[in-house]
Amino acid sequence: MIDDLWYKNAIIYSVNVGTFMDSNGDGVGDFEGLSRCLDYLSGLGVTCIWLQPFQPSPYRDAGYDITDYYGVDPRHGSSGDFVDFTNQAKQRGLRIIIDLVLNHTSDQHPWFQAARADRKSKYRDWYVWSKKRPADYRKGVVFPGVQQSIWSYDKIAREWYYHRFYEFQPDLNTENPEVQTEIQRIMGYWLELGVSGFRVDAVPFMIESRMPGKKRVLNYEYLTRLRNFLQWREGDAILLGEANVVPAEDKDFFGDEGDRMHMLFNFYVNQHMFYALASGDAEPVAKAIRATQKIPEFAQWASFLRNHDELDLGRLTDKQRRLVFSKFGSEKQMQLYGRGIRRRLAPMLGGRPQLELAYSLMLSVPGTPVLRYGDEIGMGDDLELKERGAVRTPMQWSDEPQAGFSTAPKTILPVIDEGVWSYNLINVAAQRCDPNSMLNWTERMIRFRKECPEVGWGTCTILKTGSPSVLALRYDWRNNSLLTLHNFDDKPTSILLDVGVKEGDRLVNLLVRDESRAGSNGKHTIVLEGYGYRWFRVGGLNYILNREKY
Ligand code: GLC
Repeated sequence: MIDDLWYKNAIIYSVNVGTFMDSNGDGVGDFEGLSRCLDYLSGLGVTCIWLQPFQPSPYRDAGYDITDYYGVDPRHGSSGDFVDFTNQAKQRGLRIIIDLVLNHTSDQHPWFQAARADRKSKYRDWYVWSKKRPADYRKGVVFPGVQQSIWSYDKIAREWYYHRFYEFQPDLNTENPEVQTEIQRIMGYWLELGVSGFRVDAVPFMIESRMPGKKRVLNYEYLTRLRNFLQWREGDAILLGEANVVPAEDKDFFGDEGDRMHMLFNFYVNQHMFYALASGDAEPVAKAIRATQKIPEFAQWASFLRNHDELDLGRLTDKQRRLVFSKFGSEKQMQLYGRGIRRRLAPMLGGRPQLELAYSLMLSVPGTPVLRYGDEIGMGDDLELKERGAVRTPMQWSDEPQAGFSTAPKTILPVIDEGVWSYNLINVAAQRCDPNSMLNWTERMIRFRKECPEVGWGTCTILKTGSPSVLALRYDWRNNSLLTLHNFDDKPTSILLDVGVKEGDRLVNLLVRDESRAGSNGKHTIVLEGYGYRWFRVGGLNYILNREKY
């Protein structure tokens, strides 16, 4: 296959415009500020930026409550600034994908205002209504403990409306053909402004038919239509879906022929990676990789550790989840919605060795990596902030006031200015000068990951290691092979490895100058330190850069 499917091997970086860089000193990050940071991002090795919602919004759900799909919130700049930003990104070869939030609008959106005010308005049917309170109105809330129901009474409409998320986010009736046309118009608009695709918010909810009293059905076929439209307009644009589903459902979202979502976040492997990190046991993550391995040729996983939400552990067993809670979020205030942890990676994992292990693992499981801004410098969280606000504090650029993020006395969310996670101690400027910093380590790892296209394209085999704490993955692609090892235990361990390929007599370490040769039994004995990890090129050094071309 011609290898120009860019999403098969990208480095995606997730940014919230409002908390990244404020250029005009009003306390809110903006496109001009973000444009100034593009050299930083391209230096880090990022190839694609995922922008979280930046459209006009009352910002009650950090922008996931939109009031105008065709604009830029004035606090982030103008549409002109957006176009300027995409152009500057293009100059550096960076792609942009943006959030497509169409399960719901804000209740302040003019469509909802018109819908509630007039039963005869064409917008009435753009939302989902019920004359009576549905019996199951409390079932299936997404934010338990904060959100009370999924149906709320609207005094103006004098009916109940459906909202899978907060009550200020009424669900759009995506089965209505007019809504579907509007969705196409929105996608077409942003494609024309130069984006390379969409991170599709809350996919399973967006495609559910939710007539009151009727059984919940998912209209997967609608995803095929979205995909057809997207590809008709822009051949190389992609859909990256947020769907936290079990492996048996993966094919419904990718499509049997790979004709629905190009990419899905691998929530299943994500949760099992955290279980492995908490328990020291490699088997559950190996199982999760196996369970999600078979996907269509044109599909790809998005691998990630943390995102802008809580770390959702809902797919683990109760026992597994309790263990992860006890290790990484033991205090009540660290937990959220009964299923997750509202912490950033660095404070959660505890130390540099564990952080490196986690990052190296994420970069080496099958798929394309997605990084969260700030994790490259090991930023912390602020548990004083409400719900998921804890992990959304502004980027820490330097030790100047407000972390160099803004010159305003008050910022959209407070910067972390106390304790060990304070911007005085953790910031880009300081880490840039320190060759051993997390930032420089991450940059190097991204470089290695880009030099190993096997991870994005190749076949992955899980090898036996004889040690329950070590995960060994071998990738093969175009006569090249890569072997990665990760030890989840804090103690050193020795493994005996049958790499199983002809050239397996020699393993060249890509991270430090070192190599391993097979013993007389044809196997490699490798000692991994506690939380140790290795990336080996199988065969020899000449394989590092000279990959065979077809
Ligand atoms: C997605 C987003 C989350 C948001 C929700 C409602 O799950 O990741 O941040 O609150 O959708 O739009």
